[in-house]
Amino acid sequence: MGTPATWTKPHLTALRGLDKPELLAALHRSAEMMIAHDEHASPTHSLAGRAVATMFFEDSTRTRSSFTLAAQRLGAHVVDLSGSTSSVNKGETLIDTARTIEAMGVDAIVVRARQSGAADLVARHVKCSVINAGDGRHEHPTQGLLDACTLAEVHGRLKTFDLSGLRVVIVGDVASSRVARSAIAVMSALGAHVVCVGPPALAPGSFEGLGCHVSRDLDSELPTADAVMMLRIQFERHGDGPKAGPPTPDTPKNSPITSIREFRDGFALTRDRERSMKPGAIVMHPGPMNRGVEIDAEVADGPRSVILRQVRWGVAVRMAMLELCVAANKADSSTAGR
Ligand code: NCD
Repeated sequence: MGTPATWTKPHLTALRGLDKPELLAALHRSAEMMIAHDEHASPTHSLAGRAVATMFFEDSTRTRSSFTLAAQRLGAHVVDLSGSTSSVNKGETLIDTARTIEAMGVDAIVVRARQSGAADLVARHVKCSVINAGDGRHEHPTQGLLDACTLAEVHGRLKTFDLSGLRVVIVGDVASSRVARSAIAVMSALGAHVVCVGPPALAPGSFEGLGCHVSRDLDSELPTADAVMMLRIQFERHGDGPKAGPPTPDTPKNSPITSIREFRDGFALTRDRERSMKPGAIVMHPGPMNRGVEIDAEVADGPRSVILRQVRWGVAVRMAMLELCVAANKADSSTAGR
C-alpha cells in the first residue's frame, strides 16, 4: 500500500482544515497498522526510546487506554496524567502542566480537556507533538479517523477511502458532540453524504454550514442510510456541570430536551427502527452508550453493530497518528534553523 509522503503536521488537533492528501496519508497508515495487527505481525517500534504523555482532564476510559496501548505498541514509554492526579486541580494551568511534562523529555502529549481549543492552545506553547483526544465540543480527530476507517472497511473502500455514494446518518446530541464535528469533516471530505438528525436543540440547522444536511425525521432517513451513528445525550455539557445525569425518564435540569421518553419516540435506534435499515447498513457508536436511551441493547449487540470494530480501529489510528506526528515534528525541527 505504501504511505504517501504527504503527512507534514507535527500536531493533530482537528480534521477540519486538513487537505485531502493529508487525510489520506493518515488513513492509509492507520490501515497498515490495522492489517499488521490483525495479522499478528510484529509491531513497528517506530517510537522506541521515545516518550508519550497522556494528559486527560475529563473522564475517559476507552480513549485514554487506546492511546496508551497505541504508544506502547510503538515501543514508547507512556506517562499518564489524569485529572485527579494532576496539579491542574491545584490551579496550575493547562499550559504550565504541558510545559512541565515536556521538560521531562516527552515527544508527544495527548490532550483531553473540557475547553474547546485546549489542544491548539497547548500546541502553540510546546515544541513536542500534540494530539487532541477531545476538546470540549470542538473535535475528536482520532475518533473521526477511526469512524472513517470502520465505514471504509465495511463497505470495501479501504484501498481508496473514497466514500462517495455512502449516506451516513448521525443521530442525537450532535450539538454537544466533538465526535460528530470530526466525523462530518472527514466523511464529507471523502465524499460521503452526511445527514445529522435530531430535534432543533440537539441538531441545529446551523450544522449545514459544516457541509452536512440536517433532518428532523429519523424514520425517513433510516431506509437509505449506509451507516447510522448514534450519539449519547451529553447531559454534562448542557449546563449542569460534570455531575449531571445519569438520564432518567424525567426532564433533566437545564437540558434542551423535553423528556427522555419524547427523545426516544423520535430519535432512538430501537429494534423496530433498525428493521427499516437496508441490508449491509451498519450501526456505529463512539461510546459510552446509554442502552435504552439512544440505542436499544439488542441493536448495540446485534449483527449490524460495528461498535467493537470501531474500538479496535482506534488503537491502529492512534498508532498511526503518534508515529506520523512525531516523525513530522522531528523532520521539522531538523530543518529549522538551516
Ligand atoms: C466521546 C467523547 O468523549 O467525545 N467518547 C469517546 O471518545 N469515545 C463521546 C461521548 O462522550 O459521548
